[in-house]
Amino acid sequence: MEMEKLVSLCRRRGFLFQSSEIYGGLNGFWDYGPLGVELKRNVKSAWWHDMISGHDELTQQPGAPSTYEMVGIDSAIIMHPHVWKCSGHYDLFHDMMVDCRQTNKRYRFDQVRGRWAEAKGQKVFVSTVAENEQQEIERQAQKLFKIRAKNADQISWDGAITTLDQLDDLSQVLGPDASEPGTLTEPREFNLMFKTIVGAMGTDEDAAFLRPETAQGIFVNFKNVLDSTRVRVPFGVGQIGKSFRNEITPRNFTFRSREFEQMEIEFFCHPETSRDWYEFWRDRRMKWYTDLGLASDRLRLRDHDQEELSHYSTGTADIEYAFPFLPEGEFGELEGIAHRGDFDLRSHMEGKLDPTSCPLEVETTEDGKPLYKGSGRDLTYRDDISGERFTPHVIEPSSGADRANLAFLCEAFTEDEVPDDKGKMQTRTLMRFHPRIAPIKAAVLPLVKKNGMPEVAKEIYQALKKQFSVFYDEKGAVGRRYRRQDEAGTPFCITVDGQSLDDQTVTVRDRDSLEQSRVKINDIVEEIADRISSYSSRE
Ligand code: GAP
Repeated sequence: MEMEKLVSLCRRRGFLFQSSEIYGGLNGFWDYGPLGVELKRNVKSAWWHDMISGHDELTQQPGAPSTYEMVGIDSAIIMHPHVWKCSGHYDLFHDMMVDCRQTNKRYRFDQVRGRWAEAKGQKVFVSTVAENEQQEIERQAQKLFKIRAKNADQISWDGAITTLDQLDDLSQVLGPDASEPGTLTEPREFNLMFKTIVGAMGTDEDAAFLRPETAQGIFVNFKNVLDSTRVRVPFGVGQIGKSFRNEITPRNFTFRSREFEQMEIEFFCHPETSRDWYEFWRDRRMKWYTDLGLASDRLRLRDHDQEELSHYSTGTADIEYAFPFLPEGEFGELEGIAHRGDFDLRSHMEGKLDPTSCPLEVETTEDGKPLYKGSGRDLTYRDDISGERFTPHVIEPSSGADRANLAFLCEAFTEDEVPDDKGKMQTRTLMRFHPRIAPIKAAVLPLVKKNGMPEVAKEIYQALKKQFSVFYDEKGAVGRRYRRQDEAGTPFCITVDGQSLDDQTVTVRDRDSLEQSRVKINDIVEEIADRISSYSSRE
């Protein structure tokens, strides 16, 4: 699938718009249009229902070590600055970046890639951040050496395309947008948290941060949840909310944005069973995506290698999707499932822990005090049956609502060939969303705008509307109305025709198979409910 086609459909049909578009847009920020907001709400509602509110705490789930409970919270976006000191984000949540002194552009160090090129007695490392890197590097080199494309073989190439960290120094590097080599600065750390000021004084003391993850809101409320509910370990707390990261190079549509939404669970369990719970959550989260229609050959579960793991983690896996904007064979992260040990609760109890040391140690000032004092609150748990007191271990399935949304959009985009009214084959674009997440579940269409058909259609629309998101459309040729619904991803179209007035039936058209069947008007609400619940992805 070509990404440009999807991006254009998203804009044309109101799934996604660039933020502040009339002012030229703001890089890394996106607005959801009327169809997009329904899609994203459905994705979030499916997550909230399947993970939190619909969880059956009385029945042991397949693969789970025991039964467990789930609750939700909604914490503030701006939290006490100490939260980020103790979580490690204040000191460690950064990317390395390089600046170009010539163009004043800034790049993520690990995203600048290039290759050595030599011509006219000069050897330069020509770099780019573009997706079509090979072509871009060649184009840049031709420009630099003033060699026409037809004479491109005058340039000799040395080695494969690599990242900048393979070089000893950057003095021979031609920056991605520069016209001469040697304009990139040495890499520097760049903290990804957005800073803001709380209150009217505006001093540095009032500095606060927009949260870069929703997770910390759960950790700092661990005791509140325990004290205000009857939950017992093992239990999970879920949260859906906005997070903010000042990404150096936001890119790939909504994949890497500066403002995005996360759907996170912190699952608290006994240290002895934590590995089993980790495996349970890894598989459960993977199944959630496939159940909602992400094809298994484009989705994969990738366990992190030992070197990729944080020192406190005994396991982390990513659920990844082969997004069409990535090079063939590459996957992008949709969700991470991490075994976090007791790192977070201990950090918020005891103070900032030095994350580079193992075993855990409290980083101290010269006079032996923790560098960042923790809350000092007791965040341990006492099991009221066994009497045992321990700091729970945490399993964290952390997913991005916008990335999930993007994966569902990419997966849904389909083109097929269908005959038009005159039997001529035409390309049809359809969004094959699973009906659970489809923005509109059914469209009601009177065949013509006369002979009593609109009246019957409006009654059907109103009956369905009580239960589902439905759309009424009486304008234009019915074939065109079907096409519009196909592009919106509406799984079912209900058409009222001449026969409807005689025998009280309507046709139901299936978006994917194009099959039409007659259904009694009195049964239509039940029929649509059945079709939604019995739907499974049909290849
Ligand atoms: N609490 C753990 C945590 O935040 P993460 O891997 O940094 O882990 C979790 O983020 C998920 O949030 C990612 O898998 C991704 O789906 C989403 N996410 C992270 N950064 C994002 C960004 N800049 N734009 C869109 N989604 C993002």
